[in-house]
Amino acid sequence: MHYSEKINCLAGFIKKSAHTLALTGAGISTESGIPDFRSPGTGLWTKFDPIKVATVSALKRDPAAFYEINLDRWTRYTGVEPNAAHYALARLESEGLLQGVITQNIDGLHRKAGSKQLWEVHGHLRTCHCMGCKESYPLDFLVNQFNDGTNPPRCKRCGGVLRLDVVLFEDPLGEDFTGAVYAMNKCRLLIVVGSSLQVYPVASLPERARQLVIINKEPTPWDDRADLVINDMAGSVLTDVLAALEKL
Ligand code: APR
Repeated sequence: MHYSEKINCLAGFIKKSAHTLALTGAGISTESGIPDFRSPGTGLWTKFDPIKVATVSALKRDPAAFYEINLDRWTRYTGVEPNAAHYALARLESEGLLQGVITQNIDGLHRKAGSKQLWEVHGHLRTCHCMGCKESYPLDFLVNQFNDGTNPPRCKRCGGVLRLDVVLFEDPLGEDFTGAVYAMNKCRLLIVVGSSLQVYPVASLPERARQLVIINKEPTPWDDRADLVINDMAGSVLTDVLAALEKL
């Protein structure tokens, strides 16, 4: 199928679907300047071993080293703006053609683009909490301590070590993932955007979709079970789909 045929096909799927969800990964944010994890040569995990740097064990074993290695990658993109792909999903939702976004991203760009029904299944960068007494703080409370030389950042109340409200390897997934699984029970069409679909349990969600579309630059393990695969840039694909929908 040519690109334009694929765009028209996806527009038709969206028009006909009674309940559509998007499942996004780091690939939807690369056009905003945030590197993903597994793109050949540029992905973060092509430079670091996630099992050594992004696990709960690494945080507990040496919290100061954990923050030395990780905090910058989490905080350097706070001023980044959503791109055309984020805005296209928010527009589809506002027009009643998308019922929500399940995202693995912690960058907050879907929220910034205007998406309302959002499941941030790997957490977010808005708050942190104490690993001892569980007290919650805005993320700045942790970052300011680190920048002032207090590493690891500590709880004001009990002196415990603080951690971000992001899901690390070895963490259980929280209520947003439970909500996403429940939402998938009503999902007719799932549109995956910018994910390698390699990290479980999120990568198991496509099996609950009655119709599956994958928009991703690289192949994924789900391609042979998808109804449509578009190996192209998320920003241009979703912009073109919006234009095609206007003609239906
Ligand atoms: N348009 C379309 N696809 C893109 C674009 C783009 N502009 N840029 C990158 N991609 C694709 C890449 O080809 C890659 O297959 O997006 C995919 C991103 O995959 P990953 O880097 O593995 O990111 P993700 O799927 O979100 O990873 C899942 O792994 O390490 C954990 O917690 C981390 O949430 C993350 C999870």
